[in-house]
Amino acid sequence: MKLLAFVLVLLGCLQCSAAAEFQVEALYEMRQLLIDNSGVLHDWKDNQMSPCYWDHVTCQDNKVTKISLSSSGLTGVLSPSIAKLTTLQQLLLNGNSITGGIPQEFGNLSSLTTLNLGRNNLNGSIPDSLGRLPKLEILDLSQNNLSGSIPSSFLNLPSLNNINLAYNNLSGEIPQYLLRVAQYNYTGNHLNCGQHLFSCEGGSTRTGGSKMSKLKVVLGSIAGAVTLLVIGVLIVLWWQRMRYRPEIFIDVSGQNDHRLEFGQIKRFSWRELQIATNNFSEQNVLGKGGFGKVYKGVLPGPDSIKIAVKRLFNVESPEGDLPFLREVELISIAVHKNILRLIGFCTTPTERLLVYPFMENLSVASRLRDIKLNEPALDWSTRMRIALGAARGLEYLHEHCNPKIIHRDVKAANVLLDGNCEAVVGDFGLAKMVDIGRNTVTTGVRGTIGHIAPEYIKTGRPSVKTDVFGYGVTLLEIVTGERAIAFYPDRIEEAGEIMLVDQVKILMEERRLHEIVDHNLGGAYNREELEKITQIALLCTHMDPDQRPAMSEVVQMLEGEFVPVERWEEWQLAELNRRQQHETRQQRKLFSFSEESLNIQEAIELSTGR
Ligand SMILES: *[C@@H]1O[C@H](CO)[C@@H](O)[C@H](O)[C@H]1NC(C)=O
Ligand SMILES: *[C@@H]1O[C@H](CO)[C@@H](O)[C@H](O)[C@H]1NC(C)=O
Ligand SMILES: *[C@@H]1O[C@H](CO)[C@@H](O)[C@H](O)[C@H]1NC(C)=O
Ligand SMILES: *[C@@H]1O[C@H](CO)[C@@H](O)[C@H](O)[C@H]1NC(C)=O
Ligand SMILES: *[C@@H]1O[C@H](CO)[C@@H](O)[C@H](O)[C@H]1NC(C)=O
Repeated sequence: MKLLAFVLVLLGCLQCSAAAEFQVEALYEMRQLLIDNSGVLHDWKDNQMSPCYWDHVTCQDNKVTKISLSSSGLTGVLSPSIAKLTTLQQLLLNGNSITGGIPQEFGNLSSLTTLNLGRNNLNGSIPDSLGRLPKLEILDLSQNNLSGSIPSSFLNLPSLNNINLAYNNLSGEIPQYLLRVAQYNYTGNHLNCGQHLFSCEGGSTRTGGSKMSKLKVVLGSIAGAVTLLVIGVLIVLWWQRMRYRPEIFIDVSGQNDHRLEFGQIKRFSWRELQIATNNFSEQNVLGKGGFGKVYKGVLPGPDSIKIAVKRLFNVESPEGDLPFLREVELISIAVHKNILRLIGFCTTPTERLLVYPFMENLSVASRLRDIKLNEPALDWSTRMRIALGAARGLEYLHEHCNPKIIHRDVKAANVLLDGNCEAVVGDFGLAKMVDIGRNTVTTGVRGTIGHIAPEYIKTGRPSVKTDVFGYGVTLLEIVTGERAIAFYPDRIEEAGEIMLVDQVKILMEERRLHEIVDHNLGGAYNREELEKITQIALLCTHMDPDQRPAMSEVVQMLEGEFVPVERWEEWQLAELNRRQQHETRQQRKLFSFSEESLNIQEAIELSTGR
């Protein structure tokens, strides 16, 4: 029988990950030729997937668009490799002491709008290739030691509106064209201004008042309107393209359809995974969650790659495996060093399996709780590194993936640890897959008790902010080593259980924060960091989802020294309010159960997360 195989539309994402790696390479080469006396480039490392989390680098859609290193104490020379970043729009290196010449290759930076190399010690001549930059608006090469003449190719800079070449050692004639640029400054050179009407010294041609400039304004507005119209049309076209992204189907005969390989994602056969996991032996079980069982395995072959195979439960769907494949396609787009990479998948009429690399240190939850005798407890600084890594992973899913990915089950058990105890967020999007398998139309609440945001329980609608809630609880798990929910069978007034978040709130208020710290740390922790982390966790678990920070803000706070005071004060105020309301409600409903909460309990389908 011929099977209609669904070809994953992966080309886009594979390109994107390859692109990210070449960006790391280009920037790393740039770093190598610079001398970084003040350590501003400390996190520019070549072992990463994407440079988008480095300091001083800005990205859009995972592509580098801005490098801002003004007045950063850099010396050394400029690498031609920078020119490989063809998406770069702004390169700001002014106010350093960079020497040597401006590489010819910079003419390849076709997206560049701002090039600021002013106030350095650059010498040599201005490369004529810069005249090939169609979008260049601002060019500042002032206060260097550049010599030679202004390249005649500068005639081809249609977007230029601000040029500053002041205080160099330039000579020759200034091209007419460059004296009509909106703002210019050619002071302090040996340039010949000829008999131009305008001053060579510098200034602006926007003097206004004359008929000429009124005409310019009119022409400008027309051009502006046309540009807006064109942009509008382009946006509509782009939007349509995104909506009707073609899905490619190909017809493959049954025998080799399981062998389809699309770059990094592989379609495995059932047999292959059966062999790899020793026929899904119970001894190979790494864990069991609400979505399925995870088996350890080894791929046959010279490298004996260790894998983790996730076998999903309850996957039968009347539509076949198409919805599952679509979901696989979606999660395979996510490539980031703090995100668990999908190696491949396997589908049979009754099975759905996902194949991931094996994580040597299993999960944060297992490292915190199933402590083995020969294994030291995670130390404080490793815990802080894990917190930051997991935050970066989620930030990536929320803010840099297109479409954005909501994890839906953020918890310590889903933050995995590689051989270096680097955090790798796993299991994202799985909740949805299982729902697809069951063909449920509604989004039943999925997640793990103690990690589910209150509004998610009410509305059943997950969002990035429900993930932020889960992340906040995860932070507390990392700090305390406790489960998100603790059971106290003897405490009837609490219905036998107390949420970790509530426990921490009480101890925070009573200034007994030191009591929450995991005993296994033996008192070895940093008190300022403890306070910061706890505050961040409480901000993330704010009852009002709108008040929770975005993951990018969380990353910023983790990297910074403390949580902004006003944010923390806001939180305290909101908490006070919430308690007062809670108390009045309690009094009204004295001794009676809230009907609402009972209904909610029924609605929850909970995973048996560890
Ligand atoms: C980049 O620029 C250099 C010199 O201007 C040129 O030789 C080279 O072919 C360009 N590379 C690409 C990829 O365009
Ligand atoms: C420019 O070069 C000259 C000669 O090489 C040197 O004396 C001078 O200090 C340099 N100026 C700057 C601003 O680097
Ligand atoms: C630029 O300066 C360096 C020293 O900083 C020197 O070795 C080189 O020859 C100079 N290049 C030109 C074209 O003047
Ligand atoms: C300026 O350029 C001229 C030749 O263009 C050269 O003779 C002179 O040494 C340069 N001056 C400095 C300070 O670099
Ligand atoms: C020209 O540039 C130099 C150096 O950047 C600056 O000192 C000067 O004020 C500028 N002149 C004008 C008219 O903008």
